[in-house]
Amino acid sequence: MKNGDLFRVGFIQNNPMFGKIGYNLSKIEPLLTQDIVDLMVLPELFSTGYHFLNQEEALRLSEPIPEGPTTQALVQICEKNQTSIIAGIAERDKKRSYNSAVVIGPNGYQGKYRKIHLFGTEKNCFDKGNLPLKVFDIGIARVGVMICFDWCFPETARTLALGQADLIAHPSNLVLPHCPQAIITRCLENRIFIVTANRVGTEERIPNSTFTFIGQSQVVDPDGHVLCRASEKEEETKVVNINIKKSRNKSINSGNDLFLDRRPDLYRLQ
Ligand code: ACM
Repeated sequence: MKNGDLFRVGFIQNNPMFGKIGYNLSKIEPLLTQDIVDLMVLPELFSTGYHFLNQEEALRLSEPIPEGPTTQALVQICEKNQTSIIAGIAERDKKRSYNSAVVIGPNGYQGKYRKIHLFGTEKNCFDKGNLPLKVFDIGIARVGVMICFDWCFPETARTLALGQADLIAHPSNLVLPHCPQAIITRCLENRIFIVTANRVGTEERIPNSTFTFIGQSQVVDPDGHVLCRASEKEEETKVVNINIKKSRNKSINSGNDLFLDRRPDLYRLQ
């Protein structure tokens, strides 16, 4: 860690133009290099925009990971500046497309996550994620990834927390209003940090079918404190210092430990 146990983590809340990958990336690149942090989280589908009309369009605008130009541009930034980035990217894998996120560290590409709970029209353009929920060691912290609507399935955050994640990076394109508040519960019940990087703006790719994204990207700590939260409508970058070790202690008082007190013998998951 560069500064004791302190870890500088941030998010970029952007407003991409649908389909303009080069333009969207060129707006983000200077923000990634003006203030070097330990980990920067970017929104879901940050370089393409959100509302793909069908699978053909998703395949046309998606890229192989890690060979594609968006991942490679982020790899160069991370290697040059010794930083880490987690970013949502539309992935093409042969004839399939996935709503994915890449994990990149100072030594380059580390892996990817493919969204497992697709939201609404995403089911028309992406395949469901087929990779295990994985925790990545980025050197200074253990980081899990979930994408947007995954927040609604508490098993996602729980699986990552049980896998010893200190922090969950949560690239998002949120449209439902409740997530920023609900994430506080995910943090409390797992004693974990969550960084939600959401977008702002509106997409109306089909007349009278509008997606309005709610902003409010945030960093929440294991005590449920909102350390910073962005506005609902503006593009913003925010960075905070966190003590990553705080998430490694799951006890909430002298008699209770959130993980040791679990009763998996009585839980029903199927
Ligand atoms: C969403 O999962 N992008 C709402």
